[in-house]
This record gives sequence, structure tokens and C-alpha cells, in this order.
Amino acid sequence: MCGIVGYVGAKKCTDILINGLKKLEYRGYDSAGIAMFEGNKIKTIKAKGKISEGLIPKVNEQHPFAAVSGIGHTRWATHGEPSDKNSHPIGTDRVSIVHNGIIENYREIKNYLLEQGYSFESETDTETVAKLLDKNYNGDPIDTIIKTLSHIEGAYALGIMFADHKDHIFAVRKESPLIVGKGSGEMFIASDVTAIIEYTKEYYLLEKDEIAEITKDGVVFCDLERNKITKELQIADWDISAAEKGGYDHFMLKEIHEQPDALIKTIKPRIKDGMPDFSECGLTDEKIRSYHNIYIVGCGSAMHAGVVGKYITESIARTPVIVDMASEFRYRNPLLTEKDLVVVISQSGETADTLEALKLSNKAGADTLAIVNVVGSSIAREAKMVMYTLAGPEISVCSTKAYMVQTAFMYLLALRIAYAKGTITHIEIKQLVGELLEIPNKVQMCIENYEQYKNVALRLINTESLLYIGRGLDYALSMEGSLKLKEISYIHSESYAAGELKHGTISLIYEGMPVIAVATQHDLLEKTLSNVKEVKSRGAKVILICSEGMQDIKDEVDHIVYLPKARDMFMPLTAVVPLQLIAYYTAVYRNCDVDHPRNLAKSVTVE
Ligand code: G6P
Repeated sequence: MCGIVGYVGAKKCTDILINGLKKLEYRGYDSAGIAMFEGNKIKTIKAKGKISEGLIPKVNEQHPFAAVSGIGHTRWATHGEPSDKNSHPIGTDRVSIVHNGIIENYREIKNYLLEQGYSFESETDTETVAKLLDKNYNGDPIDTIIKTLSHIEGAYALGIMFADHKDHIFAVRKESPLIVGKGSGEMFIASDVTAIIEYTKEYYLLEKDEIAEITKDGVVFCDLERNKITKELQIADWDISAAEKGGYDHFMLKEIHEQPDALIKTIKPRIKDGMPDFSECGLTDEKIRSYHNIYIVGCGSAMHAGVVGKYITESIARTPVIVDMASEFRYRNPLLTEKDLVVVISQSGETADTLEALKLSNKAGADTLAIVNVVGSSIAREAKMVMYTLAGPEISVCSTKAYMVQTAFMYLLALRIAYAKGTITHIEIKQLVGELLEIPNKVQMCIENYEQYKNVALRLINTESLLYIGRGLDYALSMEGSLKLKEISYIHSESYAAGELKHGTISLIYEGMPVIAVATQHDLLEKTLSNVKEVKSRGAKVILICSEGMQDIKDEVDHIVYLPKARDMFMPLTAVVPLQLIAYYTAVYRNCDVDHPRNLAKSVTVE
């Protein structure tokens, strides 16, 4: 939520800050702004709306700037509507800040500052921090920051400039992420590596309650007692091309096409002697056997991957799995003990709800395993065990390749649990692993079938509402299909267990309403088809997604999409592709901003 970037060096900083912000736009795009040193003053330019629509025209009006250091921000609004005045950077004549997070006690601070004679221009929580820094300023930035932080409660990553410390940037974080990039004669701060990878692959991870003082020559880290800290330099193992569209119209489309490769990269290194291997994180068979309960927790698509994980683990490992949305898990006082395993799934590794669910699990003494895409992220660092999905950076707000590899991981985990618990033999597991390794090719075949999905999309573009239905794994998958469509095309959709429709939801069906039925599971096919008949006889237009070989049911629906044959258990990995591409083309045909769906952000670091 919100992206931060900062630069100190010898080059003009405006373009570098704007470039960085563009890379961080997936974190929010309600407004954007930059602040730069100009003489002994701080110059700020900020505007409502996307960077290209608001900030860039304003910057162009006022060009050229000679400033060689500054900070920038792209906002996902929490406190205060998207507007110029609520945009960051926010500050006074002496100090300017950019903030990612939420200051929980901002009202209290605001009241105190009002009493002290300060006034407020914005409705943001951030302004209280800026003004408290101003109030506390004593000529020593670090001292001032430490004093100010001691009064602040909540989550934050802050980039800070003091007008009388020209070409110095200060950074500090608590729950929200922040890195310090190291170039040659230039330094950066950023919410994530994507923003600076064009300039450097070397960076430091700023930890909770650490302060960084950055100049063009380097960075000095200290803790809240001003003790110096030495940190290890991290090296990003991907380059700028991974964070660019590479000829595709949208990041979402590019990332859908990257799925076969992401699957291979994620699965292959975790197969040893034909068996899923979790030794890299220390998850032994002995540990697996010792767990009483297994929980899988995540948000959005990550949680949907967990639902697939539940179905397959319960089916092949005969082990109960409880799946929870992180936002619910945290507050429902879950029955956790040190005998339980909590698996958290997250692409960004920064989702606040998932992170807090993880902390809660750690506190209860449960064993925790994080399945995370972003290396070194907060969730990766907080978990007792971590396994990385190796999908490369996912920029599109609408998750595709991350869901794919998270789901693949669910198979590896389920198979290993099954083996450890003796519900499956060595030979069976090797056979299944062999079939799993064929899935990337089948995913590729599904992607190449895109013309079919365009036809489906054309049937959806004018609808106001639709349903996704399925049973078992197909229901798990429907949840993801429905989420994809609604988040980028703004068509209302629900996923529903096909058999549950008749208990209320079927009353929504009207003449011509599209229903997307997923029916890839042979043992449930007849049952799902009965539900298809029920909706059809009430006027629904049914689009069926099923396996090749189910040709005889084609006359029972209005449109059919076939998937390459695979064992039923693995079908979610292929069947998700048409669902992603149907959502994609529907959004494109409706002229929606696919990569920047309204009201959303990719990395949700607030509750
Ligand atoms: C946001 C994104 C979703 C994502 C969810 C969880 O809501 O829009 O696409 O699935 O967060 O994100 P995570 O980074 O934890 O996987």
C-alpha cells in the first residue's frame, strides 16, 4: 500500500524518482508526488491521479530542475480521499516526508499539535508525523526521528528530508517494507527492488526500528539507541526486463504467459529423486507426522491457492486442513497450539493481515511455514520456515503467475504430507510428481488457446452480473476465476458451490445471465451437470470449462472450452488459465485499466 522511492546522487533526480514511482504504481495510484532539495529549500510537486495523468504534466510545466536528491510517493488512500492536498510528500518548511502505513494514534498527536499552534491542511495521518518531526526538530535529524518515533503507534516506512540537511535522506521503518539501494556514487530508498533495479541490483534490507542516513557516498544504519549497525548487502537475482512489459499490452498478459516458466522454476528444484523435498526449509517427515492441525492462511488469490491445498491434502493425505482468510484468522481467536503447523501464503510477503496472522501463530508456539515470492520480505523473515515461489516479480495488481506457483506448491506440500503420513506409496508419489512436471506444457497449451477465451469474453462484456459454479476442486477454482473477473472488469460476479445454488442463490438467475461452470472432475461431472441444467432451465447462458474427452456434454451448454487432459487432481493448474484470460479479455474489451484496477493495490500493508 503506497510506494516510496528516494534518490541521492549526482544525476538529476526528477526522472529517477518518477521512473521509480511508475514501477511502484502497483502499490497504489490514487496520487503521486515528489519533493526535492532546491537550494536550502524543499520543493514539492504532487497531484491526484495516476503518475502519467497527474504528476508528470505538473512536473513538465515546472521543468527543468537541477535537484540531485529527493523523495517520491505513490498513494493508495487510507486516511483522506484521493486529492492533491492528501498526496505525499507532506511537510513543513523544515521537513518533508513520504509514508507507507497507518499511524494509529494520529488523532492524539493531532490534538497535541493543534494545542501547540500547528494547523493541518490534509486529512492524512501522515501529516501528524511530519508536523511532530517539525515540532521536535533540534538540528539533529537522527535525534529528532528517534524522539518522534517514540510517540508514534502503527505501521510505517518513512522517507524523510530536512531542509537544512541538503542531499541527505533519512529512512526508517516499522511494519512496512523499505530497502536502501547502493549504486556507485548514488544511493536509493524504495519500497521494493523493482523501483531501483534499473540502476542497481545491490540493496540493504532495512529492519524494524532501524534508521538509515543516506548520502550519495553511502548509508549509515543505527538503531533507536543510536548504536551503529552493520548490514549485509543483498543482490537481486533478476533484472529490469522482468519488471517491464516486454512487448505485451499489459503486465497481466505478460505474467499469464510467464506461467509455464514460473512453474518449472518453482517446482523443479524442489523435486529430489522424484520426491517433493522440503529439506531446504527444515520441514521433515517427522515434523509433518507430529502436527495435530494444519492451517493455511492468506488473502485474495493466495488464500484461494490455499483452498486448492486443502482439497488435495485432505484427499490424498487424509489430513484435515483449515483454510482461513488472514483477516478473519487473526481476530477469531484460533485454537492454535505448539503442535500445529500454520502455512501462510503470500506473493508480496508484506500483506499486513497475513503478516499479523503469522505473528499470532508464532506467538502461540505453532510451527510456521511461509510460501512467499518476494525474497527477504517481512513474512519470509518472520516465519520459522520459508520456501520461495520463484515466479519473478509480479507487477500486475491482478495476481496470475503468483497464484499458479502458490497452487503448485500446494501439490508439493500435499504430496509430501501424504508420503510422510503413509497414505501414498513411494511409487505412487513418483508417478504423480512425473505428471505434475508435465503440467507446465499443458499450461502453455491452454495459453495458446486464447482465441477461445476471447469468444467467451465477448459474451460477457455487456453483462452486469454472473456466477461461477463448480464442485470440489472446481469450486475452489471458481473462487479465483470470479475474483479475477470482478477485480479487473468491474462486472459483479460470485463463485458458488454448484450444489449449494438451490439453497438461495439460484433465485438470482435471470434470462440470459451468464454462468461459468467449471467441470474438470470426472467423479463430480454428473452432479455439476445437474446444476447446469437447473440454471439453464431458468434462463442462464452456460459457458462450460471442462476436460477434453467430455465432448458428449457439449449440447447441454451454450459454449464450451476444453482443456488438455490431465489427472483430475491437477486440473486447477490448467483450468485457471482460461479463467484468467477470460477475465483479461473481458476487461480489455470493456476498456478497463487492466493493470491498475480501480480502488485496488497489490501490496496491502494496511489492515
Ligand atoms: C491484494 C492483491 C491480490 C492478492 C492479495 C494477497 O489484495 O490485489 O491480488 O492476492 O493482496 O497478496 P499477497 O501479496 O499476500 O499474496
